[in-house]
Amino acid sequence: MITWNAEQQVFHLHNPLISYVIGIEHQRFLVHCYWGKRVTAFHPFHDYPKLDRSSFSPTPAHWQDRTFSLDTVLQEYPGHGAGDYREPAYEVRYADGHQVSNLHYVSHQILTGKPHLEGLPATWVETPDEADTLIITLADPVTHLQVELSYTVFRCLPVITRSARIINQSDKPLRLLRALSCSIDFPDSDYQQIQFPGAWARERSLHRQPLNPGITVLDSKRGASSTHQQPFIGLVRPETTEMQGEAWALHLVYSGNFTARTEVDAYRQTRVMLGINPHGFGWQLQAGESFQTPEVVMAWSESGLNGLSQVLHRLYRDNLVRGQHRHLVRPILANNWESTYFNFNEEKLLRFARNAKQLGVELLMLDDGWFGKREDDTSSLGDWFVNQQKFPNGLRPLIDQVHRLEMKFGLWFEPEMISRRSELFAQHPDWVLNAGDQPLSQGRNQYILDLGRPEVRNNILTQMCAFLEQHPIDYIKWDMNRNMTEVGSTTASPERQQETAHRYILGLYELLDALTTRFPHILFECCAGGGGRFDPGMLHYMAQAWVSDNTDAASRVHIQYSTSLLYPPIMQCAHVSEVPNHQMGRSTSMGMRGAVAMSGNYGLMLDLMRKDTERDEAVCKQIAFYKQHRELLQFGTFWRLVSPWENADFAAWMFVSQDRSEALLMAFSLVSQASAPHRLVRLAGLDADVIYQIDNQPQQIGGDELMYRGMYIDPPLSRDYVSRIWHLKRLP
Ligand code: DGJ
Repeated sequence: MITWNAEQQVFHLHNPLISYVIGIEHQRFLVHCYWGKRVTAFHPFHDYPKLDRSSFSPTPAHWQDRTFSLDTVLQEYPGHGAGDYREPAYEVRYADGHQVSNLHYVSHQILTGKPHLEGLPATWVETPDEADTLIITLADPVTHLQVELSYTVFRCLPVITRSARIINQSDKPLRLLRALSCSIDFPDSDYQQIQFPGAWARERSLHRQPLNPGITVLDSKRGASSTHQQPFIGLVRPETTEMQGEAWALHLVYSGNFTARTEVDAYRQTRVMLGINPHGFGWQLQAGESFQTPEVVMAWSESGLNGLSQVLHRLYRDNLVRGQHRHLVRPILANNWESTYFNFNEEKLLRFARNAKQLGVELLMLDDGWFGKREDDTSSLGDWFVNQQKFPNGLRPLIDQVHRLEMKFGLWFEPEMISRRSELFAQHPDWVLNAGDQPLSQGRNQYILDLGRPEVRNNILTQMCAFLEQHPIDYIKWDMNRNMTEVGSTTASPERQQETAHRYILGLYELLDALTTRFPHILFECCAGGGGRFDPGMLHYMAQAWVSDNTDAASRVHIQYSTSLLYPPIMQCAHVSEVPNHQMGRSTSMGMRGAVAMSGNYGLMLDLMRKDTERDEAVCKQIAFYKQHRELLQFGTFWRLVSPWENADFAAWMFVSQDRSEALLMAFSLVSQASAPHRLVRLAGLDADVIYQIDNQPQQIGGDELMYRGMYIDPPLSRDYVSRIWHLKRLP
């Protein structure tokens, strides 16, 4: 619901769970009043401190009241140059060279439903009664800059989404230097910030730190959301835990460069901002043209981090991913990468597929190396036709035989890239991102196609469509293995070069939109050298993503634990791989590898060319177990119980079915201890009034006892890298 109180000049966006309140102060200035637990009525201006600080916090022009300054007031979309010295949400350079803007409230509109964002991924609603949208128009009476701020409140989730459209209503061109998606001024700074720094094969580690005075910037300048950070800001109160306390999340639905900033000002107020990174960004707006920012998802919970995650999981499963796969059970796949790397042919893969089938696998996923003249990573990206050396009869015979085995067939593509040694590069050397005469930096022996150019993305689209028309492919792993350098475009004019990185992302989205619309039956897996573009933008088009190139189960306990803060298990691809592990050299038990893989979409990255009776029997059992509980694992509610980030030796989590009649508890021993302390784990999400039976044992225990008192991990997990799974079932 959205209400407008004309007398008080207040917008109240609310549902039974949350309130978000915006005011118009002095008929002009858009101020932020409140975001949090639902309040019935809000009196915005009655007690905000009115203090004269006008020496160094100026009052707006023609203003008599020295107690009002943009430098101190809580705002919704602040600018720079007219009294606010904090970080601005937008910056514009006008034709006369000035950079001062003054946005004033002009009008607003309240709509049911949620309009699409043209050309950008965003959350969406199936029917208009799921959400309401407020669009507030601001304008600068001098420069004729106009901004439309969109706010959507979901009716059944504690979620608001925001974006901004910036319009040049003047008759001269202007240059956007910064166009963030949102800014919110929190009234205090008693928060801790949550962030996910990382690197290749070490994605999304979990960090929590107090907010400090001044500006903190988390960002990506890599041309991708990256393995190094998430386009995200999390704020919690110091006392917030996994199970209780307030938590706020801001998550950008975007896959390119971003900035996530917090600024604690002199009066201990906190400005929080998220959007496209202004670094390297500029956008020309001719008279009448507009620029649409990506969307920010803003979630709130008073039930701790688990509560916040469950809100995001539900939103992303139901209202972010599009297409027919969103609510479908995901197949068990076997991927050949770590068993063959580039070295395979039809005969080998058929052996792989037959063995996989015997284990219960449902999809063969053929990874990198099937196309052009690809024998290693030095060639053929851009040449999306079958490698004649490896497949003299084409790929069709292999695909058909896999289908005859009643398995699906998946294929790897890296459509955004081009190898110097490729036919495409020979024909179009200028199609790569480049900065004129600057030499091109190498990244895995490949360059990046300039997807902002229509002819470039059309070539890739045409090649892929032709291939997919001729080959019945059920699954695509869409990879991306390097970050941008020499960011520029051969065809862009000098004043538009700084649009290249964002135009690339818009081109990528257009390509994904075209492919997923034309081939709706194909399930896409998002990959970027692991989880290098695991972001809500990509997940709009692709229902699942490869969490990390690190397939070591012990590392994955950490990575998947923190990934689950934002994304549901059904979006996380996780595979059982060989030991010693190829990335970490570590040996973990088969049970632990299985439990970790089942905590995402289970797959295999085992060497299935090789028969290994003991291993195969274990995998067979695992797959049978997974199939029995797959719906609970993929669609149940996920609860983090014990964090590996806080305990060096142990972690636990659980899945609870929607009706709470069933649950799976998983515990992982990372490093065993001599004379280990007792491990009592308190369960969560069960029905307190229900009696559960554990693993079909005669003993029956109440949900309340399991949650409030807990359950001993007994016998203790007394080896490194082992795990246990318990099945809980409600008694009839
Ligand atoms: C990086 C991916 O993350 C791997 O799983 C594999 O697909 C390779 N690329 C192939 O080049």
